[in-house]
Amino acid sequence: MSKRLAGQVAWISGGASGIGESTARLFAMEGANIVIADVTDATGQQVAGEISSNGGKAVYSSCDVSDSDSVARSIEATVQQFDGLNIVVNCAGIVHVGLLHEYSEADWDRLMGVNLKGIYFTLKHTFPHLSRNERSYIINVGSISSLVGQRATPAYTTSKGAVLSLTQSIALDYAAAGLRCNCVCPGITDTPMLRKHLNSTPDPDATLQQRVRRVPTNQAMQSDDVARTILYLACEDSAGVTGTSIVVDGGYLAAAEWDTADD
Ligand SMILES: NC(=O)c1ccc[n+]([C@@H]2O[C@H](COP(=O)([O-])OP(=O)(O)OC[C@H]3O[C@@H](n4cnc5c(N)ncnc54)[C@H](O)[C@@H]3O)[C@@H](O)[C@H]2O)c1
Repeated sequence: MSKRLAGQVAWISGGASGIGESTARLFAMEGANIVIADVTDATGQQVAGEISSNGGKAVYSSCDVSDSDSVARSIEATVQQFDGLNIVVNCAGIVHVGLLHEYSEADWDRLMGVNLKGIYFTLKHTFPHLSRNERSYIINVGSISSLVGQRATPAYTTSKGAVLSLTQSIALDYAAAGLRCNCVCPGITDTPMLRKHLNSTPDPDATLQQRVRRVPTNQAMQSDDVARTILYLACEDSAGVTGTSIVVDGGYLAAAEWDTADD
């Protein structure tokens, strides 16, 4: 069977860890040339090295998505190395836990810079290259908090709501250029980001168990689950799908109330 991304070039922000890492590995197995764009150089290089040793093609690019010049350099290097660009996955993200009145202005700006402004910078610097293709794809990683509120993470929730709005705007403004833009909204997903958050609670395993009781499938998503949906949106399997979101949450948002312990 032919590989779904044969010959495609994919730039993946946040590709050194979690959902972005799984996406990089999956895309490489599907034949894409991968650029892992991240701020964690050692792990990014390690992931790229492992993909290459397993027969894939991947390079690491040190890139802070909240810095326009850094994104511009990373995209230029990508295009030089692989002679084009077809797929952009905006997966880089950070969380800041706290009540809004306790936020510093720097906390707010940092989070918005990575989670939201980074997508603007990426579009700005990738579009001149994407527009040369008959078809190209942008997949933004939102969250279930793109669609509902979540406590003690006001900037994160705001940023993820805006990621969905920005996805719709990009889809409309660039549809005529052959670009499809969609958003994937993961629920509770077992990644280093989630683990870091859980580790800030007194009993991380108990906290996870308690969170997962709210999920009808009674389990956290794995980053591979989310990566497979990103793949669907990064190829013609999803022809005609643009300006929308796919929720990967084990049924979390389908239930107004749920406690698996009641089953
Ligand atoms: N894990 C979850 O439960 C969950 C749920 C919903 C949405 N998400 C979203 O999924 C995406 C990936 O999260 P994850 O859980 O895999 O987290 P993760 O922490 O494992 O991975 C995030 C990656 O983004 C990178 N990154 C952070 N700041 C960056 C910057 N300025 N420039 C470039 N890269 C940067 C990190 O170094 C890291 O490699 C995020 O956008 C997150 O908000 C995660």
